Amino acid sequence: MSRLEDCFNVGDFAAAARRRLPAPLFHYIAGGADDELTLRANTEAFARYDLVPQYLHDIRKVDMRRSVFGCPLEWPLLLSPTGMTRVFHPAGELAVAREAARAGVAYSLSTMGTTSIEAVAQACSGPKIYQLYLLNDDGLNLHMIERCKAAGFDAICLTVDTIVAGNRERDLRHGLTVPPRLNLKNLWSFAQRPHWCLDYLVGGGISLPNVPTPDGGDLGTLAAFFAAKMEQNITWARVERLMQHWGKPFVIKGLQSVSDARNAAAAGVHGIIVSNHGGRQLDGTAATVDLIANIVDAVGDQLEVVLDGGVRRGSHIVKALAMGARACMLGRPYLYGLAAFGQPGVQRVLSLLRQETARTLALLGCANLDEINRQHITVAGKLPHFLAGTDHPPLSTTLLRSVK
Ligand code: GLV
Repeated sequence: MSRLEDCFNVGDFAAAARRRLPAPLFHYIAGGADDELTLRANTEAFARYDLVPQYLHDIRKVDMRRSVFGCPLEWPLLLSPTGMTRVFHPAGELAVAREAARAGVAYSLSTMGTTSIEAVAQACSGPKIYQLYLLNDDGLNLHMIERCKAAGFDAICLTVDTIVAGNRERDLRHGLTVPPRLNLKNLWSFAQRPHWCLDYLVGGGISLPNVPTPDGGDLGTLAAFFAAKMEQNITWARVERLMQHWGKPFVIKGLQSVSDARNAAAAGVHGIIVSNHGGRQLDGTAATVDLIANIVDAVGDQLEVVLDGGVRRGSHIVKALAMGARACMLGRPYLYGLAAFGQPGVQRVLSLLRQETARTLALLGCANLDEINRQHITVAGKLPHFLAGTDHPPLSTTLLRSVK
């Protein structure tokens, strides 16, 4: 058995979660679409950017506070929305939302969440975002927005990259159903994890209290649910109507191109989250850290740009900030903490990441977030300037494109 105090980074928590979860559930968290090229690229791409410290600065106090999407944050992190959270541990969304508030970051509740909008609002004193999947029934969409208004959520984030379900072969191979049901493919995996089985049974199973399902919560496969429920025609006109209906910060999650970012700015959204859904939807798309600088250059003066995808270290957060991201989002790391140890696991994951972020900033010579910029990163593997015959240039968008 793993012990909480023996986990020192997100990788340790992933290993601990793997030991506690039945294989279909671990792979549901860890997996991506098709060949998982994008899943891997998201994290690996951070290593191509090197940090450049600037010393002899006063860093006795590192101030990481920043307001993002109208939410005051103690440090620039938002927790990504994740479906099915109570499957991994019965403490589920409430545990994560409470720890987000304690850590001073924002929590996002998924439309596919297993805890109600109202229960999260009651448990979470910190900033709260509702992640809206646009369903093919506007009555339901508007009803979810009304519930968020009544519950006092701070922002809505519309996810636009799930118009069809990604092809997640790990789920198919392991016979994943939602809620989990035993079948020939997965029987042995569940039998090997009696602690999880007991917790799940005592915890009372799961339902999706924010989106009515046909037969009391049984979705069958995720792909079937997406096919039946997701709106496949999300237009900018529709986004503008939803924004007006909501009336508070409204952001779009899942954009990856400069042209979509420009359209979002023209529509007047508060912000965008550059995301490929953690490599779970369209495989073969670029790592988000490779996209962020160009998008910030195009629209960063008109809306807030947040990076989601592959963030596993405080230094990843700092690299994204150096490129111009206003903040980062991450999902799998806190799910690993939750799955392995419940609420204390989430607390430790967030605490380690916060320490890493503060330490990275201090070692770079930055006492606050306004001091970090593109002078603090360079691109790994490029020719040293004395061979290239140029002065060492700041990281430019041309350079960013050339490393792809
Ligand atoms: C749901 O959003 C998922 O990625 O599984």
